[in-house]
Amino acid sequence: MKEVEIKEESIYGDKKELLEKSSQELSDHIAQIREMMCQSLGMDPVEHYLTRIKSEESMREKCIRKGLPVNQHSALELIHDAIGVRIVCAFVDDVFAIRDHLAESGKYVILEEKDYIRHAKPNGYRSYHMIIKLPEGFYAEIQLRTISMDTWAALEHHLKYKKEIGSGTELIVNELKRCADELASTDLSMQTIRDMILEQ
Ligand code: GTP
Ligand code: MG
Repeated sequence: MKEVEIKEESIYGDKKELLEKSSQELSDHIAQIREMMCQSLGMDPVEHYLTRIKSEESMREKCIRKGLPVNQHSALELIHDAIGVRIVCAFVDDVFAIRDHLAESGKYVILEEKDYIRHAKPNGYRSYHMIIKLPEGFYAEIQLRTISMDTWAALEHHLKYKKEIGSGTELIVNELKRCADELASTDLSMQTIRDMILEQ
């Protein structure tokens, strides 16, 4: 018997290709900002750059979690992170400089900004989040952070999804928070050292 492949339609429907193109445009713009900053700083401000279109599975799961119908409208209009970008910098100042370049470019409507750097989450999470509307009409979530913040977030994410943490939970939570605060303090010291080097 011949096997018939049943291909489920993408939650992004007929917009999938446009979404990918739009995401590429955003990446190209960030690359330009990075290049421009590279010229003036004499070093690349970005340590790593990541971009993704939210997978079918995660997007469907998010629609359900938010009590929304699982369809293109929810995925592209009601949920704002179909396009996700993470920009990881060595220094805190560069995080804010990239934020300013994006905001001042006039290309995007900024829907939301969450400054979890100046106002860390109670668990110690730090990052600068922006939700922007792209010229093509899609939304993107941009996460900007330092290497230390990224390392911490990766560890915390890993622990969160590990099987139930038993009786040691409170101690683990407190230790993680302490690490986050120490990393933040080190980030500030590193920034100060860099400023001193630049002034020499
Ligand atoms: P959504 O409704 O899912 O968009 O949540 P939100 O808008 O309340 O989330 P927020 O902007 O605070 O965070 C969005 C993303 O930031 C998450 O999907 C994670 O990637 C990251 N994030 C936020 N808080 C944490 C945290 O405590 N730990 C880690 N590891 N990542 C976090
Ligand atoms: Mg969000």
